[in-house]
Order: sequence, then structure tokens, then C-alpha cells
Amino acid sequence: MHIPPKASIVVLTGAGISAESGLATFRDNGGLWAEHDIRDVATPEGFHRNPDLVFDFYNMRRREAAKASPNAAHNALARLENAWDGPFLLITQNVDNLHEKAGSKNVLHMHGKLNSALCSECGSHQQWDGDLDDGEVCSSCARAALRPDIVWFGEMPYDMERIEAALGGAELFVSIGTSGTVYPAAGFVMEAAGNGARTVEVNLQATGNPLFEDCYEGPAATSVPAFVDTLLAGR
Ligand code: APR
Repeated sequence: MHIPPKASIVVLTGAGISAESGLATFRDNGGLWAEHDIRDVATPEGFHRNPDLVFDFYNMRRREAAKASPNAAHNALARLENAWDGPFLLITQNVDNLHEKAGSKNVLHMHGKLNSALCSECGSHQQWDGDLDDGEVCSSCARAALRPDIVWFGEMPYDMERIEAALGGAELFVSIGTSGTVYPAAGFVMEAAGNGARTVEVNLQATGNPLFEDCYEGPAATSVPAFVDTLLAGR
């Protein structure tokens, strides 16, 4: 694949990139949504109805993510960001910090982060690495209103203006390890293609979305490093 040097690259990742690090995806067999009801653990209504169930769900995921290590796919994206001489933005739907652990710097977590807490009262975000339970006090406003810093269904993803601007100028859009079923992320390929970007999917199996010009199939820990090598060789 030939992409001109200094081209603007936008990468979107989903749960599939962390699967080989031992973290469950959502919609594969045995995925999180097979074990837990989205309405109970990933909506504001569910949190209001039973906050302890939600705190427990994210505490379990935070503990698993803390024990997980980045795999060769995360490492390859950090290598690409470091080697690329043009604009590079890594947008992730994931709430684990495996991209950061791999050395990626410019990571945009559009669905929030497990190792952060959000104050329901003042809206401040604070680093949170251990278990987060009901009644924890916000360090900014001192009210006992901290919740998981996760964007739930029905809530607005973070940094959409920054994302729209990046998609408007992207010359290459790469979607990795996502089923492309949840908007707005699922619509990013259409925006990028509409602005003239090359579009590539890297996934265990192709999702079949005709808006992707190229698809690299296979487990991310193999297919992403191969893709990055191709990209860097083709400059
Ligand atoms: N390598 C590459 N891709 C993989 C691998 C792997 N080892 N294992 C699974 N995949 C692919 C699956 O084929 C699927 O296309 O990763 C994708 C995972 O899809 P989902 O489970 O739907 O996860 P994701 O696309 O990230 O979900 C998007 O939905 O519930 C919300 O907020 C949640 O951010 C999440 C969003």
C-alpha cells in the first residue's frame, strides 16, 4: 500500500485488538454482552436502578485490564505513531489502557477509560486505578458523586469535535478489531471515505462493509504488525 509521506492517518480500534491480551470482546461468543445485560451495566438508567451492580462490573473489568499486557498489535500501532512523519490520531472505543502501556501517545478514548472516575456533579475526571465503589468523594467538588468514567449507551462520546476534524482531513482511515455496529464510531469510515481518504479494515474476519477498500484478515497480533510493516515500507 502506498500512502504519501506526511499523510494524515486516523486509526480506530475496538475490542478485537485487545482480545489476544486476554480481554473479552462484546459480541463474540462468550463476549461481555452474552454474560451481562447492556441495559443493566451500560446505561444511565441501569446505573440509577442498581449502582452497585455497575460498580462491580467495571471493578471486574478494571482488575482484568490492570493485569493485561499489550500485544503485538498495540505495539505495532505505537511503532507506527512513532515512525510516522505526518498527523496521526488513534481513536479507541476501548476503555482499557493497553495502547498507552504499548507506548502510544496520542490516544483518544471516545468511550471513556476504566482507570478514570467521573464526577456526576461537577463533571471532573480523575485518575482511578483501584476499585471504585458508591460514595467515593470527588477531589474537585468534595461531593460523594464519583461514577465509572465510561460513556454509556444514550450518552455522548467524548471529543467528537476533535474526531470530526481528524476525519475531515484524514488521507488514510484504518479500522481495527471492531464489529462496526455502534454509532458514531461505525459511521467514521463513511465520513473518511466521503472526504477522500483511503479506507482499510483489519479484523479477524472482514465485516463486509463495502466502504473499506482493503481488508487484512486475521488475528490482530499478526495482521496489525504486517499491515504496519507494509505501510512503512510503502512510504
Ligand atoms: N483480532 C482481530 N479482531 C478480532 C479478534 C482478534 N483476535 N477477536 C475478535 N475480533 C473482532 C471481531 O470479529 C469483531 O469484529 O473484533 C470485533 C469485536 O466486536 P465487538 O465485540 O462488537 O467490539 P467493538 O466493535 O469494540 O464494540 C464497539 O460497542 O458495546 C459497545 O462500548 C462498547 O466500545 C464498544 C462498542
